[in-house]
Amino acid sequence: MAPRKKHSKSDSKQTRFVEDDHRQHPIHQKSNPAPQETRVTQPRALNISGDTRQSTISPGSPPGLAVNVAPTLVNCALNYVNFLIFKSPVRLFEFCDLEIMPGFLRRCCQAMLAEQWKHQLPIIQTKSPAVLAATILESALDKMTSTGNNSKLTVIDFCAGGGGPTPILERTINAARAPAGKIPLEFLMSDLYPHIDAWMASSSSSDHLSFIPQPVDATSPPIAALSTESTEVHSKNGPRSDTRVFRLFCLAFHHFNNDMAKQVLDSTMKTSDGFAILELQDRRIGCLMLMLCNFFLTLLVTVFWFKFWHEPLQILFTYVCPILPVVLTWDGIVSCLRTREFEEVMRLVQENTGPLVITTEVQDDGVHIKRCNTAEWVFEGGRRRHTFPFGYLNWVTGRKVSSKDSGSNR
Ligand SMILES: C[S@@+](CC[C@H](N)C(=O)[O-])C[C@H]1O[C@@H](n2cnc3c(N)ncnc32)[C@H](O)[C@@H]1O
Repeated sequence: MAPRKKHSKSDSKQTRFVEDDHRQHPIHQKSNPAPQETRVTQPRALNISGDTRQSTISPGSPPGLAVNVAPTLVNCALNYVNFLIFKSPVRLFEFCDLEIMPGFLRRCCQAMLAEQWKHQLPIIQTKSPAVLAATILESALDKMTSTGNNSKLTVIDFCAGGGGPTPILERTINAARAPAGKIPLEFLMSDLYPHIDAWMASSSSSDHLSFIPQPVDATSPPIAALSTESTEVHSKNGPRSDTRVFRLFCLAFHHFNNDMAKQVLDSTMKTSDGFAILELQDRRIGCLMLMLCNFFLTLLVTVFWFKFWHEPLQILFTYVCPILPVVLTWDGIVSCLRTREFEEVMRLVQENTGPLVITTEVQDDGVHIKRCNTAEWVFEGGRRRHTFPFGYLNWVTGRKVSSKDSGSNR
């Protein structure tokens, strides 16, 4: 476990070293003008070209302060004790990644994850994680459709599992677009191990939700899943899709080791127009403790969320032979340990793009947004609490921008 340290007070004019949970990072003052929506803006650039891990959030913040918390005493105290437990992601095996994992057990696990996205737990959740995710995704997608480019946009969930939050994302986002007269977006589910039964059930209730029945590997997607605007991969007269593409990775990006993750990001930046990485977990001590409770949560909720006559295996392998609570708890803990912070995702991007600089902004509602630009892409990241006290939705979005885009669209 990484020891906690206090802030260093040794500032210099150009570059200062600030200690976070683990180590010292060079922080460069940045003189960018504040974007309009920010209240406090002391954008500090974290140069991630060196060996850095985590930026500070704002001057005077206690180390490890989570982004996106109202500045209440309770939240500050909770975040102070909720520190990163390992200084970089740790990769152990997950049962559901093993090829020898029987398909019916993998599908039971995927079904449980989809339910966990869907339901709002009493008292400790103010809304379901899927509805929370929809607010983040809606804003990212709005920026992509408000640039004057009105060509078709499809959101492709590359690791959909049992559907995850995607049916709710589709419903919520398209319902929010309708009153504003915006055209509905298409949503597609795909996976290396397609869960056809679940996808047929959820897509039958929407005209804008569908799926790719063949296995799709996120590291090398088929032509149908590539943006029509990507020039690099399409031969002149060869087949191409008819849509721009926004790639979605829900509870999935941590499944890729660094080499695969770099491949996925490289392919995403070359053949799509935007993406979102959504993780409901992180490497902080609080989340690990919550994940341990997943064993009891699974036992508690399965009987309410699944009907015996519809999903007898779910009930059987939860209560009679409790393989599912064990697998879900183990995979959940390993997922926490594998999850990357925003800076760690940007460091992978940087291997494809060259040195990047991260700035942090505090919005009116106290939400901290981290930002990072290249000539062609804008990346943003942050955290929103989904479960009291330590469950956070950690998100990273990216969108392609053209040189014509300016101001808030960049
Ligand atoms: C933890 S599940 C998440 C499922 C769903 N997105 C959710 O949030 O409930 C991770 C999913 O990633 C899929 N996956 C893993 N590696 C993949 C790859 N290389 N390409 C596509 N899907 C992959 C797995 O099959 C699994 O369904």
